[in-house]
Amino acid sequence: MNRKQFLKNSAKGVTLTTLVPSLVFCSTDGQQKTISGNYRVNSDFEPDVDLELTATPSELQFFPGNPTNIYSYQSKLLKGENASHEKLPDSYLGPVVRVRNGQKIRVRFKNQLPHESVVHWHGLHIPPEMDGHPMYAIENGKQYIYEFEVNNRPGTYWFHPHPDKITGPQVYQGLAGMFIVEGVNEDLPSGEYDIPLIIQDRTFDNNNQLVYLQNNRMGQMQGFLGKQIMVNGSPEQIMEVSKATYRFRVLNGSNSRIYKLAWSDGSDVIVIGTDGGLLEKPIKKPYLMLAPGQRAEIWKDFSDAKNTDEIQLESLAFNSGTSMGMGGGMMGGMMQSEDTQNGNAFNVARFKITKNEGEIKTLPASFSPIKKTDAVKAVNSNSPRQFYFYNQRMQWVINSETFGMTEVADWEKVKLGTTEIWEFINGDDGRGMGMMQDMMRMPHPVHLHGLQFQIIDRDVSGMESAVWETIKDGFMDEGWQDTFLLMPGMKVKIVMKFKDFKGIYVYHCHNLEHEDMGMMRNYQVT
Ligand code: C2O
Ligand code: CU
Repeated sequence: MNRKQFLKNSAKGVTLTTLVPSLVFCSTDGQQKTISGNYRVNSDFEPDVDLELTATPSELQFFPGNPTNIYSYQSKLLKGENASHEKLPDSYLGPVVRVRNGQKIRVRFKNQLPHESVVHWHGLHIPPEMDGHPMYAIENGKQYIYEFEVNNRPGTYWFHPHPDKITGPQVYQGLAGMFIVEGVNEDLPSGEYDIPLIIQDRTFDNNNQLVYLQNNRMGQMQGFLGKQIMVNGSPEQIMEVSKATYRFRVLNGSNSRIYKLAWSDGSDVIVIGTDGGLLEKPIKKPYLMLAPGQRAEIWKDFSDAKNTDEIQLESLAFNSGTSMGMGGGMMGGMMQSEDTQNGNAFNVARFKITKNEGEIKTLPASFSPIKKTDAVKAVNSNSPRQFYFYNQRMQWVINSETFGMTEVADWEKVKLGTTEIWEFINGDDGRGMGMMQDMMRMPHPVHLHGLQFQIIDRDVSGMESAVWETIKDGFMDEGWQDTFLLMPGMKVKIVMKFKDFKGIYVYHCHNLEHEDMGMMRNYQVT
């Protein structure tokens, strides 16, 4: 049964016609639902970039001795400029895809993994059936065709698997890639000075094999935390740079680890962009908090390095506020091995200044203006929807619920074209079992699919000051975001407009183990 669907892109005034075959799906409540996915190439869609992306088991020689078994996204450019696709050297990661606003993209995703999979385009504003909702996961040997027009601001986005309950292990084994929407800005470092920095943590055993959680509920409760930092999919953390100005596109692609990024020479971290692209103007911070899923663009001029030929990007120590209940420290100590805790200090990358010649740029005073979404015009400006992220009887939940494939509660339905304020609270709503559940607390990076939003309030009055004091100068609440860090006791209000597309998107904790445990829900634009 075929169904014609008209996807209207109001911003561009373009109407795309897609033929979407349907498939019958049994949801957890036993009801049959019809899911329309895009399983075939649509001949009416004329892509500017046509890419084949295959997820497959593979191996890579990281260390002397045995090669490491990984999963990888192997890609082939079928149509488009060569620059639209770049492979990172000696890396388990997928390609860096570079596109422009207004371009039409087709990705032919083929699954050769021994499990189901699906690709999520993190941060992109695209129709629900293109977004990589777990309900569109395909089995081994099958393919899914993503066809969409890029209508995001220039910026740094990314893609990764999103199958229900097994996103964590798939990302961990190497499935992730960067998706850059390029802009034209002569004032910014480009070409060899525009560099992705994808930060992840991994643990290897004596045979050079990746170690994930070993079926241990408590480990999953906390999320995977590795012993070794990987940058751009490789343990080699030394990069040779010139005395020049760089634009680093930093992505925290870790499953659970949060970074507190700072330069070893004590210079400020100069942030020029967030999840949704360039800021209005550069912002200087002593350090920057970056939670899983978040991106930040950092400006760095190595020409002012004094008396040194090496500068390091570090993650400083901080207090994550994690407490695993029942006397707090004791159980926390039992489950977190000291050397991997969230909040431990790490060296992230070393930059060796080996060349004297290079392009030096002056930091621009401003970039493109950002229109503030008018929170007063929100339909619920006086009573924001509230989302409590907490632990209920050894289970991470949102408003006491966990993920159901197509389940949408009344409090998760919004109207197309409206602006809303949502408030996220890390802690229980006080209606549950009280004390017990609230004693288990962890940071949750909150991510919404399908749109970019603005942060309008970050209330820390419910936080422990011993935690807040160690992180307070590292939050970037300016600009466009799709992911933000919600620390224990914190409340964050965001404002957003639901535009262009109707349908079901997920929102969830981007601690991938929490997501896999069900700390994820659907919202529906009607
Ligand atoms: Cu980057 Cu739903 O995820
Ligand atoms: Cu979480």
